[in-house]
Amino acid sequence: MKAPHIDIGSFWLPKASSTLAAQVDSAFGWVYWNAVVFFVIIVTTLVVFVAKYKRRTENDVTSSVSHNMRLEIVWTVIPTVIVIALFFAGLAGFVNGQIAPSNAYEIQVTAQKWSWTFTYPNGSVSPGVLVVPKDRPVKLILSSRDILHSFFVPEFRIKQDAVPSMYTSLWFEATEAKETAILCTEYCGTGHSAMLGTVKVVEQPAFQEWLDNGGDDGKTPPAEAGKKIYSAQCSACHSVDGSRVVGPSFKGLFGRAEHVVGAGEVKVDENYIRESINVPGAKVVEGFANIMPPFKGVLNDKQIDQLVAYIKTLQ
Ligand code: CUA
Repeated sequence: MKAPHIDIGSFWLPKASSTLAAQVDSAFGWVYWNAVVFFVIIVTTLVVFVAKYKRRTENDVTSSVSHNMRLEIVWTVIPTVIVIALFFAGLAGFVNGQIAPSNAYEIQVTAQKWSWTFTYPNGSVSPGVLVVPKDRPVKLILSSRDILHSFFVPEFRIKQDAVPSMYTSLWFEATEAKETAILCTEYCGTGHSAMLGTVKVVEQPAFQEWLDNGGDDGKTPPAEAGKKIYSAQCSACHSVDGSRVVGPSFKGLFGRAEHVVGAGEVKVDENYIRESINVPGAKVVEGFANIMPPFKGVLNDKQIDQLVAYIKTLQ
């Protein structure tokens, strides 16, 4: 899917758009400026000593000094104190980021090759777009349907692995109504770099309205809604311009006769598309590997209808 936007905050960092960001950025600042200061001190000393103590004649001999207790203590104690200070600079934000406030709104995140799906407490499913209320803590409970992925929202400074057969969690509170990027930061195969999503932060009344409509504004034509699902769930592997990516292109797919492994020719209709989404291994098109994960339970019937409506427009 098209990469969602990330706002730039400073030279080094994306904009800080969650309440956790300040603590993470201050820990980053401590580590960064310590590194800068010591880099300058060490490199300057190095250059000065190279010039000053250069061997100038054949008769120069190495100094007999082997030990300096005062120096040993200084360069042991100072770095120890700094490293301990850095630990505490990071600890506050780390602990804060691990423990969600008890009133946090819970959303289930499902990762699979190569898309994100968000399931809300009322059963609404949002493919690829995490809609959240502004100024309210949100707790995400992550899992994966296949392999290791990693959920990363740079503007929120949050990152967490999504692991098969177990749950992990994280939380954040967005401070601005806006859209920003979700990335996958664990190399997970061919479609890894296309495993993108969007966080859409909206005001609380708009969030409630969106939720009441079942995660849908109820006004979008099916083909248009299907296009959004395509961007979120299918675009890493299926093109709409006829080019070959991982799976067959959707261009001209509807009504086409496909040669499928072990079953000869099949005409692509609503039932074939539905079956191929839910159980991709049932009728694999010849020349393509059977690697698509099943979407049964990921997309509901309405979303499959919308996707079919969109595919029909791609003639
Ligand atoms: Cu999923 Cu990289």
